[in-house]
Amino acid sequence: MRLENKIALVTAAASGMGRAGVIRFAAEGAKVAAVDIDKNGLDSVVQEITDAGHEAIGICADLSDDEACASIVGETVGQFGGIDLLWNHVGHPGFSRVEGIALEDYAITMDLNLRSVFVTTGAAIPEMKTRGGGSILFTSSIAGLIGSPFSPLYSAAKWGVNGFMASLAGRLASDNIRVNSVCPGVIDTPMAKIFMARPDQETDGEANLAMMKSLIPLKRIGQPEEVVNSALFLLSDEASYITGVALPVDGGFVSK
Ligand SMILES: NC(=O)c1ccc[n+]([C@@H]2O[C@H](COP(=O)([O-])OP(=O)(O)OC[C@H]3O[C@@H](n4cnc5c(N)ncnc54)[C@H](O)[C@@H]3O)[C@@H](O)[C@H]2O)c1
Repeated sequence: MRLENKIALVTAAASGMGRAGVIRFAAEGAKVAAVDIDKNGLDSVVQEITDAGHEAIGICADLSDDEACASIVGETVGQFGGIDLLWNHVGHPGFSRVEGIALEDYAITMDLNLRSVFVTTGAAIPEMKTRGGGSILFTSSIAGLIGSPFSPLYSAAKWGVNGFMASLAGRLASDNIRVNSVCPGVIDTPMAKIFMARPDQETDGEANLAMMKSLIPLKRIGQPEEVVNSALFLLSDEASYITGVALPVDGGFVSK
């Protein structure tokens, strides 16, 4: 098993890639703390993991709240005795428009993509140091590697995530803490549907999805498990000599 004896904290774990992640990490031997605002979704994923004979807890938290972002680390340590792996997966799809955007819309986009992961990571670092190391993973996006005409503010936040990741990689290497990010393309989750069909976009969701598929060299969108394969690798000791990497998992989209 690839995560044997590891303690993992995963945010946005009740759906999509986060859900697939906690199921896989637990099956690979980790004790998992799954965090989400969706209590029912959390209960269901924790049940699925424990029914399979693995170990998990659910922590219901709104990660737009600073105190909650820090306290999820304390709850994980309280339950399992430490933290080795942190996947900062929570995010917000943002908005298409720039002109006339309400500052509350600006705030929620930046807070959930950037501020929350800043606070959670800041709380986790001392815990990892006391255990002699760890591995931190962020979910950025292809929009954090290239510009995104559909989502300028989201793109700014995800570039910020990659900047934070690269900076931490250098800062934490001497503490034996590796830091990387995955940069998903279009992945088959509820959030992708929001990306494709936001009310403030001029074209409809089906047309946007068809246009995106035509631009992806592999000519299909990705599945959550395909991102989890990369997340598992980067978090695990198999990636022991990899830090500071922003890995596209996008069917080749940014390679063109
Ligand atoms: N799906 C894609 O195409 C895609 C592409 C690139 C990057 N991403 C990134 O992946 C991450 C999540 O995406 P997904 O596709 O797995 O999403 P998803 O829609 O399947 O799940 C998102 C989860 O986040 C939870 N959540 C929302 N607001 C929250 C809050 N305030 N506090 C705690 N939890 C909250 C939801 O309850 C939900 O369970 C985000 O960081 C997103 O930017 C997604």
